[in-house]
Amino acid sequence: MARLVIVSNRVPAYGDRNQQSGGLAVALDEALKQETLWFGWSGQIAAETGRMPALTQRRAVTLATIDLGAEDYRRFYVGFANSSLWPLFHSRLGLMEYSREDYQGYRAVNRQFAAALSPLLRPDDIVWIHDYHLIPLARELRELGHANRLGFFLHIPFPPASVFDALPCARALICDLAACDLVGFQTEEDSDNFLSCAARLAGATLGAEGRFRLDEADSRSTAIPVGIDAGRFARQAERAANSENANRMRESLSGRRLIVGVDRLDYSKGLPNRFEAYSRLLEQYPEHRLKVSYLQVTPRSRRDVGEYQVLKRNLDRQAGKINGKFAEFDWVPLRYMTRGLPRATLAGFYRTASVGLVTPLRDGMNLVAKEYVAAQDPQDPGVLVLSRFAGAAAHMKEAIVVNPYDPDEVAEAINDALRMPGDERRARWQALYATVNRDSAAAWCRRFLEELSGNGPPLVKPAEAA
Ligand code: F6P
Repeated sequence: MARLVIVSNRVPAYGDRNQQSGGLAVALDEALKQETLWFGWSGQIAAETGRMPALTQRRAVTLATIDLGAEDYRRFYVGFANSSLWPLFHSRLGLMEYSREDYQGYRAVNRQFAAALSPLLRPDDIVWIHDYHLIPLARELRELGHANRLGFFLHIPFPPASVFDALPCARALICDLAACDLVGFQTEEDSDNFLSCAARLAGATLGAEGRFRLDEADSRSTAIPVGIDAGRFARQAERAANSENANRMRESLSGRRLIVGVDRLDYSKGLPNRFEAYSRLLEQYPEHRLKVSYLQVTPRSRRDVGEYQVLKRNLDRQAGKINGKFAEFDWVPLRYMTRGLPRATLAGFYRTASVGLVTPLRDGMNLVAKEYVAAQDPQDPGVLVLSRFAGAAAHMKEAIVVNPYDPDEVAEAINDALRMPGDERRARWQALYATVNRDSAAAWCRRFLEELSGNGPPLVKPAEAA
């Protein structure tokens, strides 16, 4: 069986109890049991970007990491990846900043990643590269002479050509992706956007089933939704519902119903719009005052990016205003925290909550939507309010699907969710759970690797992938 090599900016935080694993680590961790090399950034900033990866072993996974030099961190991570690509790919052109120096820094780090990974690669390894930080990596590996099967998966949305075209190096990035055998996206819309960019901006010839030809190389684009292990998360939630934290939460609610939102502190998540919607709920449906409590868990990330600091200040102010306006001496309407909570604690809170709010302005998939559904008590499930601009909405039609830009529509949806009769909640939940269970992390991983390996040897044993 061929060895799998995962390359991503973040690697799993094995052994560090203070670190939360990212969505990618969770998805892959649950799906991969075979011999794997996982290469990426150590999360440390040093004087210079490392050349020799540090190796650690965790069961079947060898972690190989390098530090980023301070200047590279600034240009690659803070600059091009998170101030140019992130806003662009989320269709927020007004927030995009671009500088040639940052772009050169981004390419340089991808070259250094390739150089550090190169000596660890075996000729028959299957290499799976993840996300927008590492778009040029496949080309860099090809230039070092690696003829391995190379796949790339984009976890965030891919914008329409009219938006992508605003990036001065748009064509170069398309050509980089064409160095892969397979380019994966979360939704058909993302894959179609990419193919239309490849044709319009880079002159690619399009074929059937996502095939495209560019610079005399053949490649393929595909859409496979990332997922979770629904059964495992459901069991975790059932256990967590009786945990000390869940008991403390229920006690603190004093019989009130819980509304929950869990998002990284990021402008793509639409948190100001969501807070405004909650404020309108309390304004327009005063019967819910004193009867509900909204918990928003919002761990901070990318603190060195200016836009995230602005957002933090605005949200702090907005949360203060809502509580100032509606709180009673014995009721705090909005519980807003900018620290993360362990996944197990969240699982218990999801199960306790009558409403799950997932209303990003744009999102690649959004696994919180899936986890909220998986965590519910089948006899008495809560209701998911889901943005139509989250990739998850492509399949989770039985949620209350909203336009997050319209606070009145979202307020109405929360009101409908709070009033929804048990029969309707159960019927919607059953359909949603079936979808979440079908589009699992294991199915995502297996499908991508099958499509990448073509007719090659199996990469995941069927029993492991089930
Ligand atoms: O979803 C995109 C993503 O970059 C993930 O890869 C990552 O786990 C998450 O956002 C957190 O972002 P960062 O690594 O910048 O803290």
